[in-house]
Amino acid sequence: MNKDNLDIKDLPVFPQVAVKILQIQEDNIDISFKELESIILLDPALTAKILKVANSALYARQREITNLQQALTLLGFKMVKSLVLLVSASNIYSKNVKSQQQTTAATVTKTSTAMIWRHSVVTAFISKYVATRIKNDEKKEDVFVAGLLHDIGRLIMMISFKDKYEQYIAYLNQMSYKDIREIEEKIFEINHQEVGRIVLEKWNFPNELIDAVAQHHVVQVDSKYKTTVQIVGVANLFAKIIENENLSENDRELLATFSKALNITKEDYDYLTGEIVNALQNDELYKMSTSLIG
Ligand SMILES: [Fe+2]
Ligand SMILES: [Fe+2]
Repeated sequence: MNKDNLDIKDLPVFPQVAVKILQIQEDNIDISFKELESIILLDPALTAKILKVANSALYARQREITNLQQALTLLGFKMVKSLVLLVSASNIYSKNVKSQQQTTAATVTKTSTAMIWRHSVVTAFISKYVATRIKNDEKKEDVFVAGLLHDIGRLIMMISFKDKYEQYIAYLNQMSYKDIREIEEKIFEINHQEVGRIVLEKWNFPNELIDAVAQHHVVQVDSKYKTTVQIVGVANLFAKIIENENLSENDRELLATFSKALNITKEDYDYLTGEIVNALQNDELYKMSTSLIG
């Protein structure tokens, strides 16, 4: 099968606003600010949601943020950019939850959509914490967005390959497997990394995000953005550990390789799979993010 010509049915549209924002050059921050503001303002629903999310991100503030300019000044360009992506991605997940009919398959996919969203949010936040922990702070917003989208292929597969999805879930629940991609390839003849890459390319996303989505399960990362890919890859595993999921053989290999490459210490590991849960539960933006779909 030529995977690049794969017919993905009912491919959701990623909002143009978010795509445009991803393409803003950040070398002149004054111009970028204005550009970002004017793009977001084109979409009143998005603007409203951004303000709501921005207020929860700055929960300690006394005064409410009432306009976009304030949000930009207080939160900064990268943070607002991440919020736009967060809201846009949640809209795609929400649409899938809402469009389901009341059938068994629908219940399965509805639960799965919510689960994948939750897992994606956890991975996004852990990615950000990993960047901070390994003193790569300037990457924290980029890896947040990459973490949020890393399993977008799974959502697309659920939407596009509906007829085989129940069979896939049954397999997942029964089998012990080396890697989730094995089962996907067996049932759908393609895995979620490849689907994610194809879709992000169609949406004209930047290469850094495409690489993170396309390689987060690959031990030998081949990318200009290796660190981003590895941060998201390791955050995905920490998310799994927190969610009490079993790690596959491939996961263990990834964990060892990425932790070493990123200089993640034993102390970091303990924090990122333990104490971080409390930090997340007290993080207003995290709580807001998990409740964005449903
Ligand atoms: Fe994945
Ligand atoms: Fe994942």
